[in-house]
Amino acid sequence: MIEIQGVTKKFQDKKTSITALKHVTFSVEKGQTVGLLGENGAGKTTLLRTIATLLSPTEGRISVGGHDTLVHPDEVKKRIGVLFGGETGLYERLTARENLEYFAMLYGLSKHETKVRIDDLAKMFGMRDYLNRKVGGFSKGMRQKVAISRTLIHNPEIILFDEPTTGLDITSSNVFRQLVHQLKREGKTIIFSSHIMEEVALLCDSAAMMHKGELVYQGSLEELYKSEDSKDLNYIFMSKLVRKGEHYAS
Ligand SMILES: Nc1ncnc2c1ncn2[C@@H]1O[C@H](COP(=O)(O)OP(=O)(O)O)[C@@H](O)[C@H]1O
Ligand SMILES: [Mg+2]
Repeated sequence: MIEIQGVTKKFQDKKTSITALKHVTFSVEKGQTVGLLGENGAGKTTLLRTIATLLSPTEGRISVGGHDTLVHPDEVKKRIGVLFGGETGLYERLTARENLEYFAMLYGLSKHETKVRIDDLAKMFGMRDYLNRKVGGFSKGMRQKVAISRTLIHNPEIILFDEPTTGLDITSSNVFRQLVHQLKREGKTIIFSSHIMEEVALLCDSAAMMHKGELVYQGSLEELYKSEDSKDLNYIFMSKLVRKGEHYAS
């Protein structure tokens, strides 16, 4: 479903060149939920932006549902919903419904499709009570629901969340977790980045661990636990890095 092959991404910054991704190769099957783990600067956001066609790889290729991100970006965009960082990108002075209608328009949905989709999302996420109220007065949890609904307005098969719970309080983080469970039941393919190991353990089928632009490990959580004889993802992550160091030294 998503195939990432030998992707390198370099940023040219005046005289210096930063390699944010180094020969990253992995694939994600339809219906899988993948946790992208790594410290700050590991390359998580760059990888998600590259999958979403917002950046082009310097080397390598990515295909989404059989469509190359460089050759058919529009086909890829149709299939992907993205939510980056803590920004919700919502208009405070518009109601939740108006916000969603605006994004539906950007995706070229008809009036009828828009209405049906907003009703479905409101039902799914329990937003019916406040759909016609202005976003300005919303709690973080309510905003989170509207922002995620916005990401899903065109009913994408694949959803990319970049650090969706960073900066959120416990209630809003729980809202996010419930929504992910709901999306999993619908068979969506999800990749989300996080530095919260517990969140990945709770929500994901597999993990991809990144360090300094390289993919250190990718596989199912079960395999991962077995390989290190532990269920502590913090410990596993550190031990994968150490092993990698040993490998390089030998
Ligand atoms: N637009 C950019 N220009 C230059 N360097 C960048 C840019 N975006 C990211 N980087 C660099 O690429 C590396 C990976 O960044 P990023 O993908 O944001 O990591 P993460 O999301 O895992 O924290 C970092 O060293 C970062 O400084
Ligand atoms: Mg990031």
